[in-house]
Amino acid sequence: MPCIVSVASGKGGVGKSMVVSNLGLLLAKKGLRVTLVDMDIGGANLHILFGMFHPPSTLSDFLTNTLKNLNEVAHPIPGLSSLKLIPGTGETLITANLQHAKKKRLIRHLHKLDADIILVDVGAGTNYHALDFFLLADFFLAVATPDPTSVLDLYRFIKLAAIRKVLAAFSARDPVADALLDKDFHSVTAVLKAVGETSESGVAIAQEALKWFQPALILNRMTPKSRINTLHLQHLLKQYVGTDLSILGKIPEDIQVQQSILKYLPVVELAPSSPATNALKQIVDNVLEMVGQAPESMERMEEPRKIRA
Ligand SMILES: Nc1ncnc2c1ncn2[C@@H]1O[C@H](COP(=O)(O)OP(=O)(O)OP(=O)(O)O)[C@@H](O)[C@H]1O
Ligand SMILES: [Mg+2]
Repeated sequence: MPCIVSVASGKGGVGKSMVVSNLGLLLAKKGLRVTLVDMDIGGANLHILFGMFHPPSTLSDFLTNTLKNLNEVAHPIPGLSSLKLIPGTGETLITANLQHAKKKRLIRHLHKLDADIILVDVGAGTNYHALDFFLLADFFLAVATPDPTSVLDLYRFIKLAAIRKVLAAFSARDPVADALLDKDFHSVTAVLKAVGETSESGVAIAQEALKWFQPALILNRMTPKSRINTLHLQHLLKQYVGTDLSILGKIPEDIQVQQSILKYLPVVELAPSSPATNALKQIVDNVLEMVGQAPESMERMEEPRKIRA
């Protein structure tokens, strides 16, 4: 089974797709079979970053059952057959209101993809789709820029994802769901307290659900003037996820990134010795360490996966 890594952000336009395309290319060059999945519903553009203007098929064809197997929608990137891309879908009524059964089918097929590692580009924002697509992974990456609004949105995103993760561990009819759905919480302890007040045995279930939820942060567009208080962010998030938010890497502001997007080529290919490329290479090593798998020894971590619409 492939290992799934999701990449999200609270705020849009912070560099998720840039990170996904470049990490995908670097991982494929290390010999892994990589599939990128564009799950940015309504804002899909990962295919454009590879100059694939008219994909033969997209996620829509799978969601509408025109194509039965998700592998059929995974298109090799020209020149690097070990890297495939599942182009995203536009916002249609089906995708805007993706039914639970369709989401489950998609998740089931993701786990059966012919790949070693899957990178999921999750759309920005805190809607249910974004949270669920983020949480379907084995490992979680969050991208933010040093801009205070990006950091705040990231904090909100991780906070809601943690609550959604707890919620997903209970059935829709469980009284715990009512206790969590419409409340704001200031810490994970408060979430667990609310669970405990409703169901004593629920606390252990909630703790188990959060055990593997350890998002790692990538800071993008850093400049020498960036003043990001990562310690403060780590402290805030510790309250939520009860764990340390690791900083996987920092990517500098780099004009070559903008040029690479204009040329429809990942920056690691266009400018192999640029500052952004160097940072991305370091991040890829950290990703491999995080997932605990070198190309020659593919082992996966076991984690309970429960997604509820
Ligand atoms: N390190 C960087 N240096 C310079 N420019 C960057 C850098 N990272 C991203 N950009 C710029 O930011 C733009 C947005 O990046 P990208 O499309 O990857 O963001 P996104 O988070 O996927 O956006 P969306 O939320 O709309 O999907 C890029 O087109 C590029 O111009
Ligand atoms: Mg994007």
